[in-house]
Amino acid sequence: MIAIDQYLAEKKETVNKALQERLPASGPEAVRNAMRYSLEAGGKRLRPILTLAAAETLGKDEKEVIDIACALEMIHTYSLIHDDLPAMDDSDLRRGKPTCHKVYGDALAVLAGDALLTLAFEIVARYGLRAGRAEKAVKIGSELGRAAGVSGMIGGQVLDLEAEGGKPSLEEIEAISAKKTGALLRASVICGAVAADAGEKELKLLDRYSSSLGTAFQIIDDLLDIESTAEELGKPTGADRDRLKATFPAVLGPVKARSKAEELYNEAIAALEGLERPVELLSALARKLVFRDR
Ligand code: IPE
Ligand code: IPE
Ligand code: MG
Ligand code: MG
Ligand code: MG
Repeated sequence: MIAIDQYLAEKKETVNKALQERLPASGPEAVRNAMRYSLEAGGKRLRPILTLAAAETLGKDEKEVIDIACALEMIHTYSLIHDDLPAMDDSDLRRGKPTCHKVYGDALAVLAGDALLTLAFEIVARYGLRAGRAEKAVKIGSELGRAAGVSGMIGGQVLDLEAEGGKPSLEEIEAISAKKTGALLRASVICGAVAADAGEKELKLLDRYSSSLGTAFQIIDDLLDIESTAEELGKPTGADRDRLKATFPAVLGPVKARSKAEELYNEAIAALEGLERPVELLSALARKLVFRDR
């Protein structure tokens, strides 16, 4: 049995240290403080850990992919800063602390998000300057851009806002989740795999694994909004109901929503079976992501 809790704790430390080292050392302090505040507020670091784990599964050292892992966490943290803005989900609490705009104001929160997003792409480009990495950096940049952009996360966030107060079908809610959350989670695995020189067949299987996991992750996020507490989650609960958000439990009810997440978990595990690599780590991570309480 893999000691997954220890793995998560160790990699979180690795990621936190690497993120700190990659924050800009110059530029206006106000925006750098806001970036640091949100990045250092905590967070489970699941996306960068998936990047490291995908690479490790394919036999690559974490040093080879740590830049990519940091880029993923920066894009994710930016998405949370913007998601919490008054014009979006209007949330006051994130990662157990007041949200970025509550501390720094809306304008700096918008700009800190923009700065984290652009920094992520700068880091990927710099990664590509090292020998033998140029082509991989282009592939990774392209994957990340698509995942974070209009056909991925941004697209999903727009659909999420448009669906507020409406009665979406299951297919619609699946599309929203796959885009707003699934795309970046998928990219976390795929970009780690590309950096680790994955073959076509491996990419296909990891695509299935991470796409299933991405939607399952959002279902659990929706369920925790109903079933958990702000103390446990570090963000407000009941927020989806208050804003009449289109969520899986709203469409399916909590029991069916949970079985849907478990179905997707099984699909993720099934995809790993075809991978001729040691899959225990990715399988344990999938379990952690789906059977989580925060
Ligand atoms: C929350 O993501 C937002 C979603 C995409 C569901 P996480 O649950 O990974 O948040 P942090 O990074 O741990 O704060
Ligand atoms: C967040 O979805 C998705 C992104 C940030 C892209 P939610 O709005 O459900 O995330 P939380 O619940 O605020 O973390
Ligand atoms: Mg939202
Ligand atoms: Mg939100
Ligand atoms: Mg949520």
